Amino acid sequence: MFCFTQCMQLILLNNSCVTNLHYIVNKESQNKNMGTVIITGGTGLVGKALTKLLIEKGWQVIVLTRKIPAGSNHPKITYALWNVKEKTIDIAALQKADYIIHLAGAGVVDKRWSNEYKKEIRDSRTQSSALIIDALKKNDNKVKTIVSASATGWYGADMESVTAKGFIESAPPAPDFLGETCRLWEESIDAAVAIGKRVVKLRTGIVLSNEGGALAEFKKPLRFGIASILGNGKQMVSWIHIDDLCRMYAEALQNPALNGAYNAIAPNPVSNKILTLELAKIARGKFFIPMHVPAFVLKIMLGESSIEVLKSCTASCEKIRQAGFTFLYPSIEAALLQLCKH
Ligand SMILES: NC(=O)c1ccc[n+]([C@@H]2O[C@H](COP(=O)([O-])OP(=O)(O)OC[C@H]3O[C@@H](n4cnc5c(N)ncnc54)[C@H](OP(=O)(O)O)[C@@H]3O)[C@@H](O)[C@H]2O)c1
Repeated sequence: MFCFTQCMQLILLNNSCVTNLHYIVNKESQNKNMGTVIITGGTGLVGKALTKLLIEKGWQVIVLTRKIPAGSNHPKITYALWNVKEKTIDIAALQKADYIIHLAGAGVVDKRWSNEYKKEIRDSRTQSSALIIDALKKNDNKVKTIVSASATGWYGADMESVTAKGFIESAPPAPDFLGETCRLWEESIDAAVAIGKRVVKLRTGIVLSNEGGALAEFKKPLRFGIASILGNGKQMVSWIHIDDLCRMYAEALQNPALNGAYNAIAPNPVSNKILTLELAKIARGKFFIPMHVPAFVLKIMLGESSIEVLKSCTASCEKIRQAGFTFLYPSIEAALLQLCKH
């Protein structure tokens, strides 16, 4: 969301508001040994929250990273190195793992989409999958399952032919940059099926978290009493609370019935305007001014990636619900109330 921040800086001073995430901790599971999970990109927004949840549930976590962070000495978290461009990966760490969660990839909205950066967005996902699978092929291992991030960018913008329930997982990938990226990303990890691994892909919507990402950006103008509606605000946002997303990853590890792609979004997508005004009401009561940021301003500031904030995308979570997953935060009100409490 770096670029969106740049845009808001035209209007507002930058500010940040980061508070701690809340987790439901199953105390009994804290002493269990569930097994070992490698999380690629485990240092990121989702990875940090997921690591916390998994160690609370009794898992050992190995974070596969490009650079080992200083100062971590948690007994249940270790770090291992890889370098996707140089095709190097810590084989010993891989051989300790029962499961792999693949989150790594260059941030989709961290920079303007130059051709070079688009290549990095794509390659950092597909070449990293290929590196993992190649290492698994060449080395004895006990990995049962790989759960990979994907994104609702697979679907592109809402179409009239899509029912009110939204895109379902059998829909084809959109013929645009994100659709094509998601297709290549998912294909790259599907290659693990041929070596006997169960593969689950979570097509993730906008993740709402207090630690960064979209919500932190939505909150910034509210510090100044302004609710910034993007464009006409009618575009639908398929969102998910970070706790539900992390619980979904945990479920994907433990439930052998899960296979293939699932939309990782809450049951009730909302328009950008509703999300913005709901957040404003919870955070500021009556004391805010709604303001539209015109689409042309966003296009000038963000370039092609403005499509990410202006596009309507309604996806359906029926498939994961049918598989038995229940959401702690099914409505935007419940999600924002919880996130604003902390
Ligand atoms: N957050 C969302 O709203 C959202 C929505 C849809 C899909 N997703 C997907 O879910 C995954 C996790 O999201 P996130 O928000 O946690 O992402 P994030 O905060 O950007 O973290 C991604 C991690 O990937 C690693 N990484 C970054 N650039 C890389 C590169 N060029 N090569 C290899 N590794 C690289 C980094 O780990 P190291 O520095 O430790 O190597 C980074 O911490 C991503 O693939 C993202 O596309 C997220």
